[in-house]
Formats: sequence, structure tokens, C-alpha cells
Amino acid sequence: MAHADNLARIDVLAREHTLPGEDYLALLTTADEEDDRYLASQALMIKQRVYGNRVFIRGLIEISNFCRNDCYYCGIRASNRACERYRLEEEDILLCCQEGYALGFRTFVLQGGEDGYFTDARLLPLVSEIKTRYPDCAVTLSLGERTRESYAALRRAGADRYLLRHETANPEHYRMLHPDRLSPENRMACLDVLRELGYQVGAGFMVGSPYQTAQMLVGELQFIEAFAPDMCGIGPFIPHKDTPFAAFAPGSVEMTCRLLSCIRLIHPSVLLPATTALGTLAQNGRERGILHGANVVMPNLSPADVRNKYMLYDNKISQGAESAQALDTLRTRLAAIGCEIACDRGDIKKDEE
Ligand code: 5AD
Repeated sequence: MAHADNLARIDVLAREHTLPGEDYLALLTTADEEDDRYLASQALMIKQRVYGNRVFIRGLIEISNFCRNDCYYCGIRASNRACERYRLEEEDILLCCQEGYALGFRTFVLQGGEDGYFTDARLLPLVSEIKTRYPDCAVTLSLGERTRESYAALRRAGADRYLLRHETANPEHYRMLHPDRLSPENRMACLDVLRELGYQVGAGFMVGSPYQTAQMLVGELQFIEAFAPDMCGIGPFIPHKDTPFAAFAPGSVEMTCRLLSCIRLIHPSVLLPATTALGTLAQNGRERGILHGANVVMPNLSPADVRNKYMLYDNKISQGAESAQALDTLRTRLAAIGCEIACDRGDIKKDEE
């Protein structure tokens, strides 16, 4: 019976932190509600053991929506003429950090499109300034593909972590989501370089992106097993009206949650955000993610007047518990599911696996 088989698979995954490909495939494609509940309970238990009921917060500063790339899924792609572009000045970014620090954030994530304005000459002094002003804070960068030299210089300037979603571990699929200028090989090479340079590295992928198959999701789990990223950002694909993928259906909240649980069981100490995309697609998406093993949320710390311009997909939320200024709302919502906000850097626990 499929149900009993899935419970057995979940037990193996919780114990061995790996499954044969065919078992991942069966689990992902045949799990019923009860299987999902059991999977979530196992993931929660492991998260509890490693991190307790603490949820880490990261202040997300969206520094620019200019992007040289033209990813078919993304609302800030270069050829989207309808996207109103902005970039924050260095002093605006420092003001965001100042406000975030006062609110209790101890990680700042500088995220942006691949904007030629943010050269090393501009970024290096900015990163060192943030680290000088807030030595007890971690700086995370999420600025796309750069050269080894640039990653190395930014690391020397004090950057602690780097988020670079691989988007899909399947090279053919990668080429269906991106124009030729971007290659799956370079994407993966960037992740290797970042790791080599001593960053805590975040990878990640979209769930239900166009042309993705269940077998590809198995490939994602196998990539996560092998690469063992420190952070893993996964969220449902959500179409953006001004992109070539406007007419595709969004990914599934259930499948995203199932994958969050699997990833928690594969790498008990991974830092796993309940992403904005998950919170956008379902009312209580953030909570559901956390109840499936996520342990990070990234409230928006960008200046209010630019928030609705960083539209990666339709209806991206930046209000309510998604807003850094509404930490109390977030705290209340987390308390309702038995969690509390952790006000520290929230580094990965390396010794738990
Ligand atoms: N739906 C969901 N996620 C998206 N991203 C970009 N566009 C979309 C979309 N339409 C994700 C990508 C990228 C991250 C910043 O946002 O995975 O790496």
C-alpha cells in the first residue's frame, strides 16, 4: 500500500538523511495528507532538536531592480519595459541597516538584480562600512553571478554569506528558463567558488517552474544532498504578467512544503527560509513553511517607496508580517505556532550533522 510505503520512506529519510531516487519520486508524487503530516512532524522534530523553536530573522534590503539578465520567469528581467527601475544609494542602504539594527536585526541581506552600477569599487566600501558599524551583524549578499575576484574581494571586505539560487539542477531545464547568456555550468561554478572562499552559501530552486517534472524535483533533492548548502531558498514559481512565462500556472504550496520537510531531513542543520513566494501564494504560507521545517524568515527592510517595485512575480507581498517594521505582528503569528523570533546572527550549526 502506497501509504504504508511512504511512512516507511519518511522513517528511512529521517534516520539515514537520504533515499534512493525512486523512493524520493514515490514520496513526492504519491504522498497523501496523512503522509504529509507525518513528514512535517518528523521535519519539525529534527528542527526542534537542532534549533529549538527559534526562527531566525534576516533584514532584506532590495538594493536595485536593474538587472542585465533576462530570465524568462522574472519580473525584473532586463527586457521588461513595464518595470519601473530604482537603485538605492549607499547612504540609503546604510540607513536601512541603521533602522534594521534598532528593530533587532543582526543579519542584513543585500539583494539585487545584476546591476552594473554595483561594481566592487562601490560595494567593497559599503560592505566594510556595514561591518564596521555593526560588528555583531552578518552581511549576506545576493547579487547574482560575479567573478571569483569579486567574490573574493567582497569576502575580504567582510561579507559572511552569499545567496545564489541555482534555480534548477537540471542543465537542460536551466536552458529552458534562461537565455543563452546564462549557463548552468557557470551558475554551479559560482556556488563552488563561493564555498571555496569561505562564505556560508545559499542555493535554491523554484517549485513548479515551467517544464519542471517530478523527476527533476528528485534531482533537486539529490543536488541538495551532494552540495549540502548552508542555506536553501525554495519557493513556488509564481507567474509575472510581463514575462514570457505569464501564462504558466503557479507552483504548489503543498509540494513546496513537502520539499522543505525533505530538505530538513536531509540536512538537519540547514537554514531554511519560509520564503516570500510561499507567503504570497497562501495566506498562512509562512507559517505552513515553518511547520514543515523552515526556520528562517526574511522580512523586507527596503525603503517603503521602492518595495512594490521589486516585483519578481505578481502580487509579491511586502506588507504585514512581511515588513521589517511589523516585527510584532510576525512575533504574534509565530507565537501562535509555538515559535519565537531569535535576535542573533543565526549562523548555521555546523556540528549537528
Ligand atoms: N516566481 C517565483 N520565484 C521567482 N524568482 C524570480 N522570479 C520568480 C517567480 N516568477 C526567484 C528566483 C530568484 C529569486 C530572487 O527569486 O529563484 O533566484
